[in-house]
Amino acid sequence: MSEFPPAATSPRRSRPAAPGKDAFKRRLAEMLRVDHAGELGAVHIYRGQRAVFGAARGGAHMDARLADMEAHEAAHLAAFDRLLTERQVRPTLLAPLWRVAGFALGAGTALLGEKAAHACTEAVETVIEAHYASQVEELKDREPELARAVSGYRDDELAHRDEAAAAGAREAPGYALLSAAIKAGCRAAIALSEKV
Ligand SMILES: [Fe+2]
Ligand SMILES: [Fe+2]
Repeated sequence: MSEFPPAATSPRRSRPAAPGKDAFKRRLAEMLRVDHAGELGAVHIYRGQRAVFGAARGGAHMDARLADMEAHEAAHLAAFDRLLTERQVRPTLLAPLWRVAGFALGAGTALLGEKAAHACTEAVETVIEAHYASQVEELKDREPELARAVSGYRDDELAHRDEAAAAGAREAPGYALLSAAIKAGCRAAIALSEKV
C-alpha cells in the first residue's frame, strides 16, 4: 500500500481560481498602490506650497486655504494606507521620490506666485479626478464599497480643482506650458506607480 496517494486524487488539491479573479486582484493592487502614491504626492505638494506661503509676508490667506486642502489629502492618504494593509498590497517603491517631487513641485510653483500655485493645483486635480473617475467605472461592479469611497475622494479633488480655477489659475504666467508639463508629469507618475 502506498503511503502517498497520487496528487491527482488528493482531496487537498485546490480548485483553480475563477477565471479573471487573479487578474482582477492584481489590477486592484495596482489601483490601490497608485492611489496611495498619488495621495502621498498630493499631501507633499500642499506642504511644499505651505512652506513657501507660510514663510512669506502676506501669505497667511494662502496658507490657510492650502491647509484645508492638505487636510483632505491627508484623510485620503490615511484611507489608502488602511486599504493597503487590509488588502496586503505593497506601497510603491517610489514613495520617497514622490515625497520629494511633490514637495518640490509645490514649493516651486508657490515661488512663482499665487496664480502659479493655483495652476499647479488645477493641473494635478484635473488629472487625479479623471483617474478616479475611470477607477470608479472599473470598480463599481466588483468592489462597490471601494468605488463609493473613491467617488467621494474624486468629489474632493473636483472641489480643489474648481477652487484653484476660481482663484485665477489660468491667469498664471506661462499657464499653458506650466499646466501641460504638470499634467504630463502626473500621468507619468501614475503609470510608474501602478507597476513599481
Ligand atoms: Fe486626494
Ligand atoms: Fe486634492
